[in-house]
Amino acid sequence: MFLLFYNCLERTNAMLAVNEDRIAEGVSRLGAENAFQVLARARALEAQGKRVVHMEIGEPDFDTPEHIKQAAIDAMHAGHTHYTPSAGIVELRAAVAEYASRFRRITPAWTPENVVVTPGAKPAIWNTLSALLDPGDEFVYFDPAYPAYASAASYLQAKVTAIPLLEERNWRMDMDELERRVSDRTKLLVINSPHNPTGGVLEQEDLERIADLAQRHDFLVLADEIYSRNFYFDREYVSIAALPGMRERTIVVDGFSKAYAMTGWRLGYAIMPEELANVVTLFNNNTFSCVATFVQYAGVAALQGPDAPVKAMNATFRERRDRIVAGLNKISGLSCTLPEGAFYAFPNVTKITRDGRALASFLLNEAGVACTSGSAFGRAGDGYLRFSYAASLEDIDWALSVIAQALPGFKG
Ligand SMILES: Cc1ncc(COP(=O)(O)O)c(C=O)c1O
Repeated sequence: MFLLFYNCLERTNAMLAVNEDRIAEGVSRLGAENAFQVLARARALEAQGKRVVHMEIGEPDFDTPEHIKQAAIDAMHAGHTHYTPSAGIVELRAAVAEYASRFRRITPAWTPENVVVTPGAKPAIWNTLSALLDPGDEFVYFDPAYPAYASAASYLQAKVTAIPLLEERNWRMDMDELERRVSDRTKLLVINSPHNPTGGVLEQEDLERIADLAQRHDFLVLADEIYSRNFYFDREYVSIAALPGMRERTIVVDGFSKAYAMTGWRLGYAIMPEELANVVTLFNNNTFSCVATFVQYAGVAALQGPDAPVKAMNATFRERRDRIVAGLNKISGLSCTLPEGAFYAFPNVTKITRDGRALASFLLNEAGVACTSGSAFGRAGDGYLRFSYAASLEDIDWALSVIAQALPGFKG
């Protein structure tokens, strides 16, 4: 990460006399999302005329539903182009409280005061961790993981513990190990179900065990539920916030990027006890002030408008999941568990190499298939690749066939 940052600096040095010595020491504790670097390389290859199938970046390839776009346009025309309160417009906070309480079966229902609106879920994570973690505080998460949790916690100088997720448990953690690793000193545990990068989903019994530990040791749980609508079971989604005693000690992070194909709009939120919401709002106030006003109105339309587009996108994701997982499992040297949510396939490539980075860059350069190394999500991701199946069935079929052809040429 620092190298990436440093490269940008090199270009500005001449003008600004900013050199490495002047950069804050804390910068070295920041992580970054590798998928964006792969995307930049893939685009450069495309610019040279090469065909690339994009499976590196975690965003739906669908267009944002029309009624949501129209709501933003109408809001702009109605003059909603000025600052809003830092926690978000009350219409959106109320819509989130109503939708999220109904979807997760929360009683008593959340109120607008529990909701903080942010430009995407990522700043909700950063600002919530900033509101909670002092240097030395114990922060527990899991590995592999979306990089933003460890980046924020390390930056804040928390004591970070990662529990490995297990392929043989379909990417859930060993609950006995979690029990051994948390204590009365634990301040915050992060969970993410459905999970990026593996597509794993926590079972009700896992959630109950975590809830029991949280109450026994008096820690808070940040539940990153951004993929709660990208869920492929024919049963209802279970949030840890709905379990007895958990409404008051859970921070639910969610947003519009994945469910409504709105990654570029930058709209997310977190739901939490009101006292904490006020502190997270203070961080909003100190950083971005508020989310673009007409974007917030588009969020109201997403939550209150027809749900059919979300269901249709998910049906397509499910079809693609079945196609890519079956196809990966037919390729010699690869094996892939069936993701139960999100839109990622996470094949095991250890029969070929443990160096996922080298294999991912080989597949991009030689086969034109852009994917991410599992190691970009933590040490437990070594020996895996992440394919985001935000590509058409035709592109998936093409990618599978070129991977199968190219792989024997990989000299790891
Ligand atoms: C697990 C997880 N949480 C949060 C986010 C952030 O989403 P956004 O900031 O686009 O709302 C992502 C994006 O990839 C993610 O995978």
